[in-house]
Amino acid sequence: MFTLRENLSPTESRAALVSAAEALLDGETDLIAGLANVSAAMGAYLDDVNWAGFYLRRGEELVLGPFQGLPACARIAWGRGVCGSAAAAGETRVVPDVTAFPGHIACDAASRSEVVVPLIVGGAVRGVLDVDSPTPGRFGAADADCLERVGGLVARWMEGV
Ligand code: SME
Repeated sequence: MFTLRENLSPTESRAALVSAAEALLDGETDLIAGLANVSAAMGAYLDDVNWAGFYLRRGEELVLGPFQGLPACARIAWGRGVCGSAAAAGETRVVPDVTAFPGHIACDAASRSEVVVPLIVGGAVRGVLDVDSPTPGRFGAADADCLERVGGLVARWMEGV
């Protein structure tokens, strides 16, 4: 059983998310099951977030994976939008104002800021972790660091599934 720790400070929530991701992936051998549970943990532990989930590389596209939030764009061309840009560069993107990001793809019209972390498995980008907020500038350095840790855990786990 998963117990959600409540009334945490932002710092405690980030630590709880990393611990939850580790625990949820430990021993799991199914890609969808693992990513679904990490999506749920991101949605549960990150406040002021309207979308949290994954896109997976399928050829020259990113295809929607497990997530929490409103229905989203199912396919994103490599290099397009915040997700495609982070995937193509193999670099995290922290976007404080999505309306100012050239080529941003609006899935949920409420989204105002976004973090995308590439999932680098064996030197290749196999997908991205994506989190959106309705609040401009929601994500600071500590959030990016936390989500890079979660993305790193997911990517290492993906090597074995
Ligand atoms: N905004 C993203 C698309 C994915 S949604 O945010 C879920 C982008 O520009 O790549």
